[in-house]
Parts: sequence; structure tokens; C-alpha cells
Amino acid sequence: MQTQDRDRVTPNQLSYTREDWQRGYRSQPQESSYWIEDIEGNIPVELEGTLFRNGPGLLDINGYALHHPFDGDGMVCAIGFKNGRAYFQNRFVRTEGFVAERQAKKPLYRGVFGTQKPGGWLANAFDLNFKNIANTNIIYWGDKLLALWEAAEPHRLDPVSLNTLGLEDLNGAIASGSPFSAHPRVDPNCNGEPRLVNFGLKAGMSSTITIYEFDLQGKLVEKHSRAIAGFAFIHDMAITPNYCIFSQNAVKFNPFPFLLGWRGAAECIQFDPKQPTKLILIPRHGKGEVKILETDPCFIFHHANAWEAGDEIILDSIAYEYFPTVEPNSDFREVDFGSLPPSQLWRSRLNLSNGTVDRQILESRGCEFPVLNGDRVGRNYRYVYLGAAHQPTGNAPLQALLKLDLETGEEDFYSFAPRGFSGEPIFVPRPGGVDEDDGWVLVLAYNAAQHRSDLAIFDAKKVSQGPMTTLHLSYHIPYGLHGSFTPHYFDPKM
Ligand code: CO
Repeated sequence: MQTQDRDRVTPNQLSYTREDWQRGYRSQPQESSYWIEDIEGNIPVELEGTLFRNGPGLLDINGYALHHPFDGDGMVCAIGFKNGRAYFQNRFVRTEGFVAERQAKKPLYRGVFGTQKPGGWLANAFDLNFKNIANTNIIYWGDKLLALWEAAEPHRLDPVSLNTLGLEDLNGAIASGSPFSAHPRVDPNCNGEPRLVNFGLKAGMSSTITIYEFDLQGKLVEKHSRAIAGFAFIHDMAITPNYCIFSQNAVKFNPFPFLLGWRGAAECIQFDPKQPTKLILIPRHGKGEVKILETDPCFIFHHANAWEAGDEIILDSIAYEYFPTVEPNSDFREVDFGSLPPSQLWRSRLNLSNGTVDRQILESRGCEFPVLNGDRVGRNYRYVYLGAAHQPTGNAPLQALLKLDLETGEEDFYSFAPRGFSGEPIFVPRPGGVDEDDGWVLVLAYNAAQHRSDLAIFDAKKVSQGPMTTLHLSYHIPYGLHGSFTPHYFDPKM
């Protein structure tokens, strides 16, 4: 159905309407739990476990519009799969701020991305008390379900009910109020077993990165901090067996408009094309030196993967030509997509013997949210899955799923356009599968035609054939950020 619609989009037309896209950013105040009954196709019986997703659930607080979706309260969705059936739940994370604002019926906090409290700049000046909104990612590790937000510690949820259990310090590993990124990586094989690797960034006029590593039981096995010069805006990291890799983007930060209450913190970040982007390699083990390599100015939110090859490290990342400043009086719902640079997949070859970086573009189509088979994290890999724009050029909302074969350059592509909008794909390996792409790709897509969200299940070997199964949810989930899949199925006890 949607493939036929797609063919009606000619190159000179937009593949979407702004009104459709905007509706996917309406607040979703409902919370429910139900067996999904409205299904096209069959759920593969071998698909067992739980897909968790996180993202902003509210785009307003009692009618006060948020300035940026990244300021929205975290709402977690879970879809549990067993025996060819699927059970859906969604719950807001009961953060201290969410509970207080729900009672007060108005914003009580400034958002990092520019949402201000009512009352003008005087009401906001020198207020550095941010709300830990727990909205960026969700992982299950060491028997704990953790909602992540990069500037503070995680919130722990009950995986059966999604009820919030409180802030989580991971057995004392994270000091109270310390940053703990929303982008942990799982090293699939560190001395024979998987390991969770994460970082915390304290950004200022100089910055500190703390590396954390946890074993399968959730016990802290490595923790060390390194200072790096200058302000850093770092959202994600890549890992190899020996390094954590960060991009220190070419930006500068002027804190004064923020301190004075004129702007949100993120609105004080400005892209600086005169600065290089620095690639920072911190050794994961031991006290070896931090390596810093410089490359062309660009802005990176997300890395796909990295691996070591002799004297080189190969790093695949989604890069923007520049970072558009978040403007204080702008409305994100009115963004002019075409005026902004698309995010594209780049490969950087970091030569550790002579310090040079060689960059090449791998995919020029606008894309974001790169994922891969978890067994290949930190290793040479063949397939990357991305949320992608419908049109091959220019910047646009994500409406498609793109699988890219990095060995042959072959693309396997499916678009939900014109009325569907995609996000981060999640790759789930088939139990007992051998091929890197033997498994399923799960995409939670906004279906504007029905104003609800669908979970599309693709056979990872046949993306262009379209979803093998589509689960229609009973209402929409606002465009989310990140999620994960765990092979654990949590019985809803019904
Ligand atoms: Co992210």
C-alpha cells in the first residue's frame, strides 16, 4: 500500500506534508497496557523478548508549549513478544520534575534546549536546576531497566509494570547528580563476556569524561576520568576493544545569555567553522595516553561503529556539515527542513602512527540513528541500518528504513512516505542465526493517515519488500529517540 503511494512522489515534490509531520509531535498523555490485536501479517514465533523505546511523551506542560522536543518528559514504551503475540505498555517516567509539574500544572524548570519557565528572563536567571527528564534511551542490563538522560543518573523502572522505582546509582558506581550518558555500548566480547561501556561528560570551559564499564551482573569493573581541553558537546561514543572514541565537535559556548535567563543552555552553543572537529581516543584499560586527532569541522551526534585495523581506527559516524543554532524565538514545529544540512554517513580513517584523518562519505542520503548487529560492535562489520529521508538528496524528516551493505555499497530501502515517518531501527538477531543480517529490523513508525503509531517488523535480508508484519498501536507515540531490545520477555501477569 505504502510502496504504491511512494511511487506517486515525484522528485520535485516534498515526500510529506508539514501538517502530517507536526501531528507526530502532539503530546501523548495516555498510558495503557494491552495485547496488540490489530496486526497485518504474522509475528515470527522465534521473535521473543522485549523492545523498549524512550522519547519525549509530552510536548507541552498543561498547555505551555515546549521550546524543543528534547526538553519533553520521558515516556517509555515496551512491546513484549512471545509465541507470536505482542503486549504493549507505555508509561511516563515518574521523575521528580514530572511529578511536581503535574501537580503544579505548569513548568517549574528550565529545559536545556530552551524551554523557559513562565515569567520571562527574570524568572529564569541563574536557575541552573534542570529536570532529569529521563527521555533519551532505555536499556536492560544486570537485571535492571534503566531510563537514561545524559546529564544525570538513570531512573530505574520495573520491567514488568514500567513503574518508576527511582534514581539508580548502579551499586554506588555513579555519584549523586553525576552525568551518565544515554549512549552506552555493549562490547559483545570483553575477556569472553559482554560488557556495558558508558561515559559521563562534565562540560565546562574544560571538560571531564568518565568511563564506566559494567559486567553482565551490573558490577562496576572499570571507572576512570580524563580531562580534555575546552568546552565539549558530546552525545555519543564509539568503542573498540581498546578505546572509547569521542568527537569533540567544532562548537563554542557562551554561557552568559543562559546564566542571565535569556536563552537555554543549548541555544548558547554555536558552530565554529574555524575550529577542527577533534576525535578523542581514551584507552579503555590502563593509563595509556589520550590520543587526539583533528579533522574537518563538522557536527556529530551519533556514531555507527568503529574498529581497529593495524595502525588505523575506522570510525563511521553521522555528520552534519554544521550545527544550526537553536534560536530562542523559533518554533521547532515550523522548522524549514530544506534550509538545513542533511545528516550523512561518513567514514573516518584515523591513522594512529602519523595522526592524520582521512574522511569519505558512505551515504549522502539524509540519515540518522545508525544501528547494527550487536555482535559486530567494535568490530569490522558489513551492514548498517538507518532511519533515512525518502528523497535521495536534501534534508527532510526521516520516512524510510535504509540498510546499507558497506562491502558492496548496495542499498536495501523501504519508505513509509508520504504519510509515514520513521525513526531509529532496532536490529534483532534470529536465535541461532549465522549471517550478520539474519534477523529482524523493528521500526516504530508514525502513521499520519490514521494518527497512530505502527511497529513494522522487517526481515533484515529483505528490507525493500516492506514489513513482513505491521502491528497497529491504538494511539500515536510522539517521535522518539532511542531504544533497545532484550531477549527477556516479562510476563505481564494477566
Ligand atoms: Co542519541
